[in-house]
Amino acid sequence: MGMTDMLKDALSRVINPSDGRSLQESGRVGGLDLRGGVATIILKPGPEGEDITALRAAVASALEGREGVTRTRVIIETQLSGAAKAKPAPAPVRAPARRIIAVASGKGGVGKSTVAANLAGACVKLGLKTGLMDADIYGPSAPRLFGLSDAPGLRKTDAGIEPLEAHGVKLVSMGFLVGERDPVVWRGPMVTGAIRQFLNEVDWGDLDVLIIDMPPGTGDAQLAIAQGTPISGVVIVSTPQTLALDDARKAAALFDRTEIPILGVIENMSFFLCPHCGEGTEIFGRGGAKAEAELIGAPFLGEIPLHPELREASDAGRLVASGDGPVAKAFLRAAEAMLVNVDAAHRPAPEIVFAD
Ligand SMILES: Nc1ncnc2c1ncn2[C@@H]1O[C@H](COP(=O)(O)OP(=O)(O)OP(=O)(O)O)[C@@H](O)[C@H]1O
Ligand SMILES: [Mg+2]
Repeated sequence: MGMTDMLKDALSRVINPSDGRSLQESGRVGGLDLRGGVATIILKPGPEGEDITALRAAVASALEGREGVTRTRVIIETQLSGAAKAKPAPAPVRAPARRIIAVASGKGGVGKSTVAANLAGACVKLGLKTGLMDADIYGPSAPRLFGLSDAPGLRKTDAGIEPLEAHGVKLVSMGFLVGERDPVVWRGPMVTGAIRQFLNEVDWGDLDVLIIDMPPGTGDAQLAIAQGTPISGVVIVSTPQTLALDDARKAAALFDRTEIPILGVIENMSFFLCPHCGEGTEIFGRGGAKAEAELIGAPFLGEIPLHPELREASDAGRLVASGDGPVAKAFLRAAEAMLVNVDAAHRPAPEIVFAD
């Protein structure tokens, strides 16, 4: 039995204090994902009035401390109420920004979140009102990248959910909703429901650009976001290695399928920029992404060097793009090219109506 299977097994045997039944019996387990010691558990809708704090505690005590699990995050989907279900047409997704730009990669770990955050930082530098939506449900990065890991969470005001703000960027992330202690309750289907709430219920104000940090991969979740979100264009991040490039192509195909313009490709970890001598070393063979961009007929937006400062800054919640070193300049150039292309695509963020 693999580690995840073992956890699934333990999870299915958890007794829900509200009804005395195991999660297996009541068919509640919706999903489980383990990343970086954090187990994210998705539970299907439960009975009305269920004690979710007690349920979360039961799940935590069954899983935390097992091999590979340091923390659990419990997400509970809710049933749409009768009234909501009966509604003939759900509210359309309003575009909260003039330009909504998704940052996607296909392959995980290529620095997509780092690039998305720094593109947002560069947009702020260019004087734009900028927001970032962290759409990675299982592995939210924005809290760490923006130094908000200990943020108290999102507040709801009369105007809607108030985004957090750091380095001039307005932010929402699953990471702010799924705190150490609070279980999160979504309305409706997991991914699209969450994204829709982020778009419609967050008080973004009047943004010039909203960057979406997409979850890695090219599966159903990504497709659901691409189809259900009024995206003006997508930026593909890849490293120069062939494997990453193959996945970048899949990501491009996914967005192509939904007729979302590809604004361009950014090559991350393009070459090693020595922090001591300032010299560049091509570790993976630089330029693969540029050639790939040509192949798929997409513009090339630029190269971001592999630089220790980027990792250090990410971990410390600083944005390199807010400074003015060579890496910051690379992000600024890429952001400028991205903005030129999104405006040239002449596609104001469309309105999408859900048919569920
Ligand atoms: N150009 C770079 N130079 C140095 N380190 C980098 C660079 N880009 C990203 N990193 C580091 O690589 C790691 C992975 O980056 P990141 O989390 O942004 O990737 P991701 O593609 O979003 O991953 P995931 O698939 O998990 O969402 C982080 O530790 C980050 O600091
Ligand atoms: Mg990421």
